[in-house]
Amino acid sequence: KGLFSLPDDLGGLKVLVTAGGTREPLDPVRYISNRSSGKMGYALAAAAIQRGAVVTLVSAPTSLDPPAGVELVSVETARQMYEAVMERFSTQDVVIKAAAVADYRPKIVAGQKIKKTGETLILELEINPDILYELGQRKEPHQTLVGFAAETEDLEANALQKLRKKNLDLLVANDVTQPGAGFGTDTNIVKLFYRDGRVQSLPVMDKKTLAHRILDAVVELRSQTH
Ligand code: CTP
Ligand code: CA
Repeated sequence: KGLFSLPDDLGGLKVLVTAGGTREPLDPVRYISNRSSGKMGYALAAAAIQRGAVVTLVSAPTSLDPPAGVELVSVETARQMYEAVMERFSTQDVVIKAAAVADYRPKIVAGQKIKKTGETLILELEINPDILYELGQRKEPHQTLVGFAAETEDLEANALQKLRKKNLDLLVANDVTQPGAGFGTDTNIVKLFYRDGRVQSLPVMDKKTLAHRILDAVVELRSQTH
């Protein structure tokens, strides 16, 4: 499709995108996080706006400016993201979970800065809610749910397992060990896994182009089932 003729094919739809890496506090000055830049999620939010959607961007901290026209909901921790997403889920048509959610958080958040005392420090972590799994459980037939998976090994098997377990319509899986893929880069190399078993391997592309490619897949899926 031409650069100047973006379709209005998400017109009237409500799209919620999550982005960034959650931060899990350890003490007043420290947190545990991950290498997510937020670029993929922000590109998806911008692309959805261009295509006519009403877009909510639930974002963990990033260094990016939110795209013009989105409703930005800023969160820090996985639990805050869980609350923000669950509160809004029932009114959404499409939810795309590009955020890198910390699987675990420190079990105890120290009230004061943790002092340097011994040769080693053992941190105890406890599991965070799996937001995408919960969405998959609550999903209504009119809702389209898209997840991401960053893998370093066994991409296909892990992706298929996540697609099924989380009851997704589409899973975007990337092998973050490949150069030009994954965290912090401007490009990505992904495979799209559909619930009907189709798998599409996409060539390396910049995250803005990939965002539109993912939305094309969402539009196609919705045209089949809605
Ligand atoms: N996800 C989520 N809530 C979590 C963890 C992950 O919503 N607590 C979402 C991510 O936003 C992503 C998808 O689940 O869309 C897959 O994340 P990933 O880390 O690849 O999968 P996990 O289920 O956490 O499994 P693992 O980290 O063990 O591979
Ligand atoms: Ca994880």
